[in-house]
Amino acid sequence: MKKSKFITIEGIEGTGKSTVVQYIRDHLQRSGEKIVLTREPGGTEIAEAIRKVILRHYKETMAEDTELLLYFAGRAQHIASVIRPALEAGKTVISDRFTDASFAYQGAGRGISVERLKVLSHWVLKDLKPDLTILLDVPVEVGLARAKGRGTLDRIESETIEFFERVRQCYLDLAKQFPEQYRIVDANQPLDAVKQQVISIIQ
Ligand code: TMP
Repeated sequence: MKKSKFITIEGIEGTGKSTVVQYIRDHLQRSGEKIVLTREPGGTEIAEAIRKVILRHYKETMAEDTELLLYFAGRAQHIASVIRPALEAGKTVISDRFTDASFAYQGAGRGISVERLKVLSHWVLKDLKPDLTILLDVPVEVGLARAKGRGTLDRIESETIEFFERVRQCYLDLAKQFPEQYRIVDANQPLDAVKQQVISIIQ
Protein backbone atom coordinates (compact mmCIF):
# COMPACT_ATOMS: atom_id res chain seq x y z
CA MET A 1 0.00 0.00 0.00
CA LYS A 2 1.19 3.51 -0.81
CA LYS A 3 2.35 5.11 2.44
CA SER A 4 2.19 8.77 1.54
CA LYS A 5 -1.21 10.36 1.16
CA PHE A 6 -2.28 13.56 -0.51
CA ILE A 7 -5.34 15.13 1.16
CA THR A 8 -6.94 18.37 -0.02
CA ILE A 9 -9.62 20.52 1.59
CA GLU A 10 -11.94 22.62 -0.53
CA GLY A 11 -14.93 24.90 -0.08
CA ILE A 12 -16.07 28.48 -0.54
CA GLU A 13 -14.99 31.28 1.82
CA GLY A 14 -15.94 31.02 5.49
CA THR A 15 -16.24 27.23 5.80
CA GLY A 16 -13.63 26.97 8.58
CA LYS A 17 -11.06 25.26 6.31
CA SER A 18 -7.97 26.63 8.04
CA THR A 19 -9.13 25.46 11.49
CA VAL A 20 -10.07 22.06 10.12
CA VAL A 21 -6.75 21.47 8.31
CA GLN A 22 -4.82 22.25 11.49
CA TYR A 23 -7.03 19.86 13.41
CA ILE A 24 -6.37 17.07 10.88
CA ARG A 25 -2.64 17.75 11.05
CA ASP A 26 -2.60 17.55 14.86
CA HIS A 27 -4.69 14.40 14.82
CA LEU A 28 -2.49 12.56 12.30
CA GLN A 29 0.70 13.74 13.99
CA ARG A 30 -0.44 12.19 17.25
CA SER A 31 -0.67 8.85 15.47
CA GLY A 32 2.98 9.24 14.39
CA GLU A 33 2.52 10.26 10.76
CA LYS A 34 4.88 12.78 9.19
CA ILE A 35 2.68 15.60 7.95
CA VAL A 36 3.21 18.55 5.67
CA LEU A 37 0.45 21.14 6.02
CA THR A 38 0.35 23.57 3.14
CA ARG A 39 -2.01 25.80 1.16
CA GLU A 40 -2.91 27.27 -2.21
CA PRO A 41 -2.47 29.85 -3.42
CA GLY A 42 0.90 29.75 -1.66
CA GLY A 43 2.84 27.11 0.22
CA THR A 44 6.35 28.17 -0.86
CA GLU A 45 8.22 31.48 -0.79
CA ILE A 46 7.66 32.08 -4.52
CA ALA A 47 4.05 30.85 -4.51
CA GLU A 48 3.26 33.04 -1.48
CA ALA A 49 4.63 36.02 -3.45
CA ILE A 50 2.33 35.07 -6.35
CA ARG A 51 -0.56 34.79 -3.85
CA LYS A 52 -0.05 38.45 -2.88
CA VAL A 53 -0.14 39.47 -6.55
CA ILE A 54 -3.37 37.51 -7.09
CA LEU A 55 -5.33 38.64 -4.05
CA ARG A 56 -4.60 42.36 -3.75
CA HIS A 57 -6.87 45.02 -5.22
CA TYR A 58 -5.87 47.09 -8.29
CA LYS A 59 -7.33 50.10 -10.08
CA GLU A 60 -7.04 47.97 -13.22
CA THR A 61 -9.17 44.85 -13.76
CA MET A 62 -7.13 41.65 -13.71
CA ALA A 63 -7.82 39.70 -16.93
CA GLU A 64 -9.32 36.26 -16.33
CA ASP A 65 -6.46 34.50 -18.13
CA THR A 66 -3.91 36.40 -16.03
CA GLU A 67 -5.64 35.26 -12.85
CA LEU A 68 -5.87 31.67 -14.08
CA LEU A 69 -2.22 31.51 -15.13
CA LEU A 70 -1.05 33.05 -11.86
CA TYR A 71 -2.89 30.35 -9.89
CA PHE A 72 -1.28 27.66 -12.04
CA ALA A 73 2.15 29.31 -11.88
CA GLY A 74 1.99 29.22 -8.08
CA ARG A 75 0.75 25.64 -8.24
CA ALA A 76 3.67 24.53 -10.45
CA GLN A 77 6.09 25.93 -7.86
CA HIS A 78 4.14 24.42 -4.97
CA ILE A 79 4.15 20.97 -6.57
CA ALA A 80 7.85 21.11 -7.48
CA SER A 81 9.19 22.38 -4.21
CA VAL A 82 6.73 21.12 -1.57
CA ILE A 83 4.16 18.52 -2.64
CA ARG A 84 6.20 16.07 -4.73
CA PRO A 85 9.29 16.06 -2.46
CA ALA A 86 7.08 15.42 0.59
CA LEU A 87 5.11 12.60 -1.05
CA GLU A 88 8.33 11.02 -2.33
CA ALA A 89 9.69 11.13 1.23
CA GLY A 90 6.64 9.14 2.39
CA LYS A 91 4.95 12.06 4.15
CA THR A 92 1.25 12.85 4.18
CA VAL A 93 0.48 16.18 2.51
CA ILE A 94 -2.59 18.15 3.57
CA SER A 95 -3.32 21.12 1.32
CA ASP A 96 -5.82 23.86 2.11
CA ARG A 97 -7.13 24.07 -1.51
CA PHE A 98 -5.64 22.66 -4.72
CA THR A 99 -6.49 22.42 -8.44
CA ASP A 100 -10.22 21.85 -8.03
CA ALA A 101 -10.38 25.42 -6.70
CA SER A 102 -9.36 26.58 -10.19
CA PHE A 103 -12.20 24.53 -11.73
CA ALA A 104 -14.63 26.06 -9.21
CA TYR A 105 -13.44 29.71 -9.11
CA GLN A 106 -11.87 30.34 -12.52
CA GLY A 107 -14.02 27.74 -14.33
CA ALA A 108 -17.52 28.05 -12.86
CA GLY A 109 -16.96 31.45 -11.20
CA ARG A 110 -15.28 33.31 -14.07
CA GLY A 111 -16.60 31.17 -16.92
CA ILE A 112 -13.27 29.83 -18.27
CA SER A 113 -13.81 26.63 -20.24
CA VAL A 114 -13.26 23.24 -18.62
CA GLU A 115 -11.17 22.21 -21.68
CA ARG A 116 -8.70 25.02 -21.04
CA LEU A 117 -8.53 24.12 -17.35
CA LYS A 118 -7.91 20.47 -18.19
CA VAL A 119 -5.02 21.38 -20.49
CA LEU A 120 -3.36 23.42 -17.74
CA SER A 121 -4.12 20.80 -15.15
CA HIS A 122 -2.48 17.99 -17.19
CA TRP A 123 0.47 20.23 -17.97
CA VAL A 124 1.17 21.26 -14.37
CA LEU A 125 0.00 18.22 -12.36
CA LYS A 126 0.96 15.39 -14.74
CA ASP A 127 -0.02 12.24 -12.78
CA LEU A 128 -0.51 14.00 -9.42
CA LYS A 129 -3.99 13.61 -7.94
CA PRO A 130 -5.37 13.95 -4.42
CA ASP A 131 -6.17 10.64 -2.69
CA LEU A 132 -8.93 12.36 -0.75
CA THR A 133 -10.70 15.72 -1.05
CA ILE A 134 -12.89 16.92 1.79
CA LEU A 135 -15.44 19.47 0.67
CA LEU A 136 -16.61 21.70 3.52
CA ASP A 137 -19.99 22.90 2.33
CA VAL A 138 -21.95 25.90 3.62
CA PRO A 139 -24.67 28.07 2.09
CA VAL A 140 -23.08 31.09 0.38
CA GLU A 141 -24.74 33.66 2.69
CA VAL A 142 -23.36 31.88 5.76
CA GLY A 143 -19.84 31.58 4.34
CA LEU A 144 -19.66 35.16 3.14
CA ALA A 145 -20.99 36.52 6.45
CA ARG A 146 -18.22 34.62 8.26
CA ALA A 147 -15.59 35.90 5.78
CA LYS A 148 -16.82 39.49 6.24
CA GLY A 149 -16.56 39.06 10.01
CA ARG A 150 -12.81 38.41 9.60
CA GLY A 151 -12.12 41.93 8.26
CA THR A 152 -11.24 43.47 4.88
CA LEU A 153 -12.14 41.40 1.86
CA ASP A 154 -9.48 40.52 -0.73
CA ARG A 155 -10.01 40.74 -4.52
CA ILE A 156 -11.68 37.32 -4.80
CA GLU A 157 -13.73 37.62 -1.60
CA SER A 158 -15.19 40.85 -3.00
CA GLU A 159 -16.98 38.89 -5.77
CA THR A 160 -20.79 38.71 -5.99
CA ILE A 161 -23.13 36.22 -4.30
CA GLU A 162 -23.89 34.77 -7.79
CA PHE A 163 -20.17 34.12 -8.36
CA PHE A 164 -19.93 32.15 -5.09
CA GLU A 165 -23.18 30.27 -5.87
CA ARG A 166 -21.53 29.04 -9.09
CA VAL A 167 -18.34 28.13 -7.19
CA ARG A 168 -20.29 26.19 -4.55
CA GLN A 169 -22.35 24.37 -7.16
CA CYS A 170 -19.23 23.40 -9.11
CA TYR A 171 -17.68 21.88 -5.97
CA LEU A 172 -20.89 19.90 -5.33
CA ASP A 173 -20.86 18.72 -8.96
CA LEU A 174 -17.20 17.68 -8.72
CA ALA A 175 -18.03 15.71 -5.56
CA LYS A 176 -20.79 13.92 -7.43
CA GLN A 177 -18.57 13.30 -10.46
CA PHE A 178 -15.64 11.90 -8.43
CA PRO A 179 -17.23 10.03 -5.49
CA GLU A 180 -14.08 7.93 -4.95
CA GLN A 181 -12.08 11.11 -4.26
CA TYR A 182 -14.61 13.41 -2.56
CA ARG A 183 -16.34 13.44 0.81
CA ILE A 184 -18.77 16.26 1.61
CA VAL A 185 -19.03 17.61 5.15
CA ASP A 186 -21.81 19.98 6.18
CA ALA A 187 -19.83 22.90 7.61
CA ASN A 188 -22.97 24.74 8.68
CA GLN A 189 -22.96 23.00 12.07
CA PRO A 190 -20.92 23.56 15.25
CA LEU A 191 -17.17 23.31 14.65
CA ASP A 192 -16.79 20.33 16.99
CA ALA A 193 -19.28 18.35 14.92
CA VAL A 194 -17.44 19.30 11.71
CA LYS A 195 -14.09 18.23 13.21
CA GLN A 196 -15.51 14.90 14.37
CA GLN A 197 -16.96 14.12 10.96
CA VAL A 198 -13.71 15.05 9.21
CA ILE A 199 -11.65 12.81 11.50
CA SER A 200 -13.93 9.84 10.96
CA ILE A 201 -13.50 10.31 7.19
CA ILE A 202 -9.70 10.55 7.52
CA GLN A 203 -9.62 7.39 9.64
P1 TMP B 1 -7.91 31.12 0.65
O1 TMP B 1 -9.03 32.02 1.07
O2 TMP B 1 -8.23 29.68 0.80
O3 TMP B 1 -6.60 31.46 1.25
O4 TMP B 1 -7.75 31.33 -0.94
C1 TMP B 1 -7.64 32.60 -1.48
C2 TMP B 1 -8.62 32.79 -2.58
O5 TMP B 1 -8.16 32.20 -3.80
C3 TMP B 1 -10.00 32.19 -2.33
O6 TMP B 1 -10.95 33.22 -2.58
C4 TMP B 1 -10.15 31.13 -3.37
C5 TMP B 1 -9.24 31.58 -4.47
N1 TMP B 1 -8.69 30.54 -5.35
C6 TMP B 1 -9.01 30.57 -6.71
O7 TMP B 1 -9.78 31.41 -7.16
N2 TMP B 1 -8.45 29.62 -7.52
C7 TMP B 1 -7.55 28.69 -7.08
O8 TMP B 1 -7.06 27.86 -7.86
C8 TMP B 1 -7.22 28.69 -5.66
C9 TMP B 1 -6.24 27.69 -5.14
C10 TMP B 1 -7.82 29.64 -4.85
